[in-house]
Formats: sequence, structure tokens, C-alpha cells
Amino acid sequence: DASDIEKGTYPHYMLKEIDEQPFVTRRIIQKYQDEHGGLTIDQAIINEVLNADRLYIVACGTSYHAGLVGKQLIESWAKIPVEVHIASEFSYNMPLLSEKPLFLFISQSGETADSRAVLVQTNKLGHKAITITNVPGSTLSREADYTLLLHAGPEIAVASTKAYTAQIAVLAILAATAAKAKGLELDFDLTKELAIVANVMEMLCDAKEEMENIARDYLTLTRNCFFIGRAVDYYVCLEGALKLKEISYIQAEGFAGGELKHGTIALIEDGTPVIALATQEHVNLSIRGNVKEVVARGANPCVISMRGLEGDGDRFVIPAVHPDLTSLVSVVPLQLIAYYAALHRGCDVDKPRNLAKSVTVE
Ligand code: G6P
Repeated sequence: DASDIEKGTYPHYMLKEIDEQPFVTRRIIQKYQDEHGGLTIDQAIINEVLNADRLYIVACGTSYHAGLVGKQLIESWAKIPVEVHIASEFSYNMPLLSEKPLFLFISQSGETADSRAVLVQTNKLGHKAITITNVPGSTLSREADYTLLLHAGPEIAVASTKAYTAQIAVLAILAATAAKAKGLELDFDLTKELAIVANVMEMLCDAKEEMENIARDYLTLTRNCFFIGRAVDYYVCLEGALKLKEISYIQAEGFAGGELKHGTIALIEDGTPVIALATQEHVNLSIRGNVKEVVARGANPCVISMRGLEGDGDRFVIPAVHPDLTSLVSVVPLQLIAYYAALHRGCDVDKPRNLAKSVTVE
């Protein structure tokens, strides 16, 4: 059918969409570039951000995971407090709001019912909202005051990949523009750093064989898999685990490295695969300590690190990018590992059981 033609020579949409990430990152740079070559966001949106005393990010699934990374970027660059909420929880368990809240809805489809239910509530309360979405004219876009587009092109595979990295890239541009408007100049050029990210994404997309081998070596027979990381690597681990769960049906969990010993480490047995991310200098020693702890209990470790922070025995080393932007590249190996694990286990990669691309019922 027509949709198969769009897939081109790819066996699955998911693989095609993973491969599109360097291109999407470059397109975002283009779409958000101002006449001086810098990256910028609509002044009206920035004014709302500066007027707010706190941002509330509301989202579901992969978009929620992008929101966690966005919180860190906005807080560390623009020094604005941010809370991140799962939409379905927010609806029935609304947190105490600050005096001047601004809502940021992140939704690839712009149609997720759980997120929309919150937008209906916040609109009723008279609070301003921005929707970050891939779909112009979608419900969440129409019903919010402002929209920021992802420009990622249609995402067909149920497991979200290019939308996640596009969401983080747009959140980074928002964080940097807000920082600049507050007089907090960043000590690097975001345009240049995102261009480096796109190049590294391309190298990672070329490392399919290595990722297929990791999937074969660690995930062919296992019934579970743990992802551990600290700081932003923890957030990426949540996303890596979600990808693996969604399409391979392997029970996978992302954990903060330091939290393992408070319970989860009880699940480590001989041969349990533990995928660890190590892209952050300030926690490099501690995450490696956590890897030793699980190895001592028999785990089969797969460390994916960043160039400059690599250690003996690391399974894969990602070329270096700006330390605040590592999530944009470290997720790519995890997407590919999930893809090949699902493929090897004979799963329907693009249409996993029980899941829908966009969930329009609460
Ligand atoms: C569904 C999809 C997920 C997605 C989530 C949020 O559950 O299966 O992949 O992350 O909805 O979708 P949204 O379109 O709001 O980003």
C-alpha cells in the first residue's frame, strides 16, 4: 500500500525514523534560525516564559521522558524552576500551583487524551499554555495559546524515536533563548553544538552492526534487562527501557545508579543484562561504582560511554558532544538495541501488541 512506498528500502518505519534523526536535527536548526544565524523562539512565547515564576511540563510516555531532559536544560541554562508531570496523574492529583504558572504540553501527536484533559483544566483556570508538537493544527496545538513545532515529519512507528530527540532539541532552543533574554549568556554556540550532535547521530546510525551485536549478545534469551545511569543518563535510561519494553516485550527498567542498592539490586542474578550509560563527567566514577556492584552479583554489564570518559571494557564509546546535549545522542544506541532485540525475537517492530500510536481515550 501507499504507506509501504514511504518506507522506501527500510524494513520498518522505526529504523527509518531512527535514521532520520540527524536530518531532523539539522532541519530544526534551520527552522529556528534567525537572520543572524542564531537559534531563537518567538518573542511572544519567550515573554510568557519570562513572566512565569514556574514552568509545568505535562506529557505522557516518551514525551514525558523528553520533558525530564527539558527540565534540566531550562533550569540549568535559564534558571527557571520547572516541574514535570505525567498527564494522567496531574488530572486527578493536581500539584499546588505557583502564583504565575506557565504550562508546556509536549505531545508528538498533539492528540493524547490524557494531556488534553489537563489542558482543558488549565485553560479553565486561565493559565497560559504552549504546546510542543509534531502536528500543526492538532487538538493540543489549537487549544493552547502557543505552539512550537518539531518539524520531524510524520512518525509512523508506534515506538517514538525521532520525536523524542526533536522535542529535546526544541526544548534546548527554548532554554537557550530564555537564558539569553534574561541576560544569562551561554558559554557555547548552540547552533554549532547541535550541528555536532547531528553529525554524531549520523555516526551512531552507521553503527547498526555493533548495536545488532549488543542486542544479540545481551538480549536474545533474557527475560529482563536493567538500564542504569545518573543525572541526565538516568532520564535517557528511562527512555531506553521504555523502547525495549514496548517492542521486544522484555521486562526492562531504567534506574538511577545510586538508587539500585535501595531495592532493585535484589533482582540481579547471574547473567542479568545491565546496560549502563556513562556520558557525564561529574558522575562517571559513581556510575562505574554501580556497575561494579551489579557485576559482583553476577550481572552481564554493557557500558556505553562518551569519548573522554571511557573505561576498560566499555562495550561502545559515543563520540563526544556538549555535555548538556548528550541525551540527543546517547538515546540512539538504545533505540537501535531495542529495534534489533525486537527483530531477533520475531516481534512486530512497528505495531507492538496492546499499544497505539496515539491514545485518544483517557
Ligand atoms: C502513546 C504512544 C507513545 C507516546 C505516548 C504519548 O502511548 O504509544 O509512544 O510516547 O502515546 O504520545 P504523544 O503523541 O502525546 O507524544
